[in-house]
Amino acid sequence: MDAQAKKTALRGITYGLYVIGTKIGDGDVNAFTGNWVTQTSFDPPLVAIGVKKGTTSYDGIVASQVFSVNVLETGQKDLAFKFFKPVTRVGNKFDDVEFYTATTGSPILKDALSWFECKVIDVNDRGDHALILGEVVDAGVHREGEPLNLRETGLFYGG
Ligand SMILES: Cc1cc2nc3c(=O)[nH]c(=O)nc-3n(C[C@H](O)[C@H](O)[C@H](O)COP(=O)(O)O)c2cc1C
Repeated sequence: MDAQAKKTALRGITYGLYVIGTKIGDGDVNAFTGNWVTQTSFDPPLVAIGVKKGTTSYDGIVASQVFSVNVLETGQKDLAFKFFKPVTRVGNKFDDVEFYTATTGSPILKDALSWFECKVIDVNDRGDHALILGEVVDAGVHREGEPLNLRETGLFYGG
């Protein structure tokens, strides 16, 4: 295989950019920014995410069996950047980012455009990231708007 072609072709997949939340440890929550998110079924509504093994979030999702996906708005690159590295939570804030919880207890960012949350129904551990399949059990819309694209941030995660 041509390694450069593989990288270029895989980077041709278009993505959004999302803040994915979950529960960790004893009553705590965590969140990270990721782009490997896609719907895979209408009925039941299923969503797949790719989650790096060995991260706080991976361990939390596998243990708690729940996660949330926060859809960011175009222009919210700064918000996305806050969750590329480990975050600390104080009360209902990750630094200055406010969140609340709904059905599963996973964090929902007040400033996200919209959100949905899932119960995990399958974990496939084959790669360096796990393919985690979730059934959507709740969702909400904070406002109308255009979702954030990975491309507009100038970043890539894939290849
Ligand atoms: C552009 C970009 C996209 C990313 N997408 C994902 C992703 O889809 N899945 C993932 O597990 N990590 C992804 N990451 C890496 C996580 O943001 C990073 O590992 C994060 O620190 C994990 O948080 P945690 O250690 O608090 O669990 C991405 C990083 C960048 C820069």
